[in-house]
Amino acid sequence: MRLGSIVLFVAVCSFSAYYVYEPIPEDIDQRWKLMLTNTFFRSLSHLADFSELVGLKDYMGVMYVVTLIERIAPVSDEHVHVTVESFDGVEVLLYQPKRQSGNTEPRRALIYLHGGGWCLGSSYMSPYDLVARKIATELNAVVLSVEYRLAPAHHFPIPYEDVYRVVKHFLQVGVLAQYSVDPGRIAVSGDSAGGNLAAAVSQQLLKDPTQKVQLKAQALIYPVLQALDLQTPSYQQNQDMPILPRTLMVRFWSEYFTSDRAFFRAMMANTHNNPESSTLLKFVNWSAFLPETYHRNYNYSPPALAQGEAGFESGGPSRSLADPRASPLLVPDAALRSLPKAYIITCEYDVLRDDGIMYATRLRAAGVEVTHEHYEAGFHGALMFTMWPMDFLIAHRMTDNYVKWLKENL
Ligand SMILES: *[C@@H]1O[C@H](CO)[C@@H](O)[C@H](O)[C@H]1NC(C)=O
Repeated sequence: MRLGSIVLFVAVCSFSAYYVYEPIPEDIDQRWKLMLTNTFFRSLSHLADFSELVGLKDYMGVMYVVTLIERIAPVSDEHVHVTVESFDGVEVLLYQPKRQSGNTEPRRALIYLHGGGWCLGSSYMSPYDLVARKIATELNAVVLSVEYRLAPAHHFPIPYEDVYRVVKHFLQVGVLAQYSVDPGRIAVSGDSAGGNLAAAVSQQLLKDPTQKVQLKAQALIYPVLQALDLQTPSYQQNQDMPILPRTLMVRFWSEYFTSDRAFFRAMMANTHNNPESSTLLKFVNWSAFLPETYHRNYNYSPPALAQGEAGFESGGPSRSLADPRASPLLVPDAALRSLPKAYIITCEYDVLRDDGIMYATRLRAAGVEVTHEHYEAGFHGALMFTMWPMDFLIAHRMTDNYVKWLKENL
């Protein structure tokens, strides 16, 4: 009896230790805290897989819990007036500084797009509220945080189009005047999938012949920028890293376009490209656009084409993933040339590292002013971890650098 309990106790302990323990690179600060934080995310992901398997609730439906637990009701404080508005039918959180800007000096503005793989996340999450409030206060800027609709309920291009509608609405001279915003000092920004939307919006505005007011800057925080090659060196190096393992990123990509699991499997195998999209591979050729240190241990070979039986070789999701509104890296240099100056954050331990680095390389080559900040000990999603008990030093450092860049460049 006693021996049985001891054996059981040891077994439970070993299992827990084995489950919690994930090798995390030595140079990441607060490794144990990250390991525990990641245990929460991994457990939730396993629960979500299980729930989907037994037909209770689909995977993303369960993962959405991460959005709900950090959801707050945003309230005005002594510095910032916060309201919920509808801009051309899309919900936005509007942060207006209370400080008197004087009669003559109009304000700066930032349009913020939250992350979460187009499937999760919300402007109402406390880390996003915190950063919006900080920017509104420290820059005396109007901040607009867009509550765009999410996949899989709303596949591409709906999340993108929601964002574009808000931006078009806000950038009207009359609307800007209503909020005392200087039309020459507006930026768009976002993290992860929000960085994807921010980069896409910056490109599309430039192409829009009816658009008068343009953006001054784009700030992209570990952005997702291409769906063609899901085996870049950073995807290979970081496939099991905390917060965003490769499987989850591929899942986000596939859910953005379709709920067809065959597409997810093809993306996992990196065999999801059709012959049309393969002509665009030159824009994401990492052996050409990454500094040598990042690719010298990897041999470049272009992703293989979709196999016949998958049934999505032309049209549908394969067409969408080559659309620059989904993959902003897939435009020729001429389309990059007049883009607003860019701030790009990348993290070493992030599957998306190479997306950000390649965009920095390509923008610079096209003559765009780029500030690229690479965090050697950074991991994906770091900016979100500002709140107890999942607070990390790197989150504060990253936030401060980001706000500093906006202060100086917007
Ligand atoms: C990728 O870039 C390398 C080096 O610049 C080049 O040799 C190769 O042909 C390119 N491949 C593709 C598919 O663009």
